[in-house]
Amino acid sequence: MRVAILGMGSVGKGLLQVINQKDLGITVTAVADSKSALMDRDGISIEEVLEAKKIHGYCGDTSLSSVDVVTKAAYDVLVEVTPTNATTGEPALTHILQALTRGRHVVTSNKGPIAREFERLHRCAAKNGVMLRYEATVGGAIPVIHVLQQGLAGNRVRAIYGVLNGTCNFILSRMAAEGLSYEQALLEAREMGYAEADPTYDVKGIDPAIKLVILANTFWKKTVQLEDVDITGIDMITNDAIRLAEEEDCTIRLIAEANPERGILRVAPRLLPLSHPLVVEGTLNAITIETDLAGEITLIGKGAGSVETASAIIGDILFIRDFHAGSHKKAP
Ligand code: HSE
Repeated sequence: MRVAILGMGSVGKGLLQVINQKDLGITVTAVADSKSALMDRDGISIEEVLEAKKIHGYCGDTSLSSVDVVTKAAYDVLVEVTPTNATTGEPALTHILQALTRGRHVVTSNKGPIAREFERLHRCAAKNGVMLRYEATVGGAIPVIHVLQQGLAGNRVRAIYGVLNGTCNFILSRMAAEGLSYEQALLEAREMGYAEADPTYDVKGIDPAIKLVILANTFWKKTVQLEDVDITGIDMITNDAIRLAEEEDCTIRLIAEANPERGILRVAPRLLPLSHPLVVEGTLNAITIETDLAGEITLIGKGAGSVETASAIIGDILFIRDFHAGSHKKAP
């Protein structure tokens, strides 16, 4: 598979490293960051690109841009991993639409456009006979979309709830375990590359709310928007609040919950017993799915991190390859 990668932040760099290290049958024919781009239909040198990014702060030719990559590069799958914008979904929304219209598959970790324009993007993919996969938008490395779309096909999903933001979980865990202040813990999360480019998306609960919207739109075929979610973040949680919770053998976790039967769509800090399955540590995410046939299933895994997110992206790329095995035509 030939892939073009837009975005060279934590996720883009992690993805390039993994593709370089593992023999996955994936060739990177183009990359772009916010200042430059590089294209080679025979495959770029990943090592050189990563080195250039480290030395200069950009990856390629400054006279080229992401739009050149989307519209001119030779690729089968566009991987869109630029920073997310929850309000407009741009510039990722335009990148994705252009690639789909050009008849190319798209894999993305970019939550903004998927949450904002779920139906429009899926219509565009269907019209052009290509796939749009977005496993990496929810739950980091946890293959929750695959589990729900394939593994639990035929089930009625009654409710989904859990920890959907690694940064908030990391902050709450560090505050509880080490007594770190909220600010110190947030700084650590940013340094480790877990937080969004704008970390207020994490701590104010916007990021898990976006993920909840994506899940709801995926599984209940709703046209839910971010504005429909009742959101409270963790930015007002103090060390005292956590200590008080611990006195009752409880702790605080930011829980996202969708339950259409009960009209619930919310993100809020919740007091949970320390023994509760959703009380996971660090950047782990935990997602409970209530279904009619399979009963209750809880998935736990790394919810943030560059290589972990790369795992979800690679899963999608290889899913597309296998789905189209034999019938897939290469781009000219
Ligand atoms: N900032 C996000 C998180 C990254 O902490 O969960 C993964 O979506």
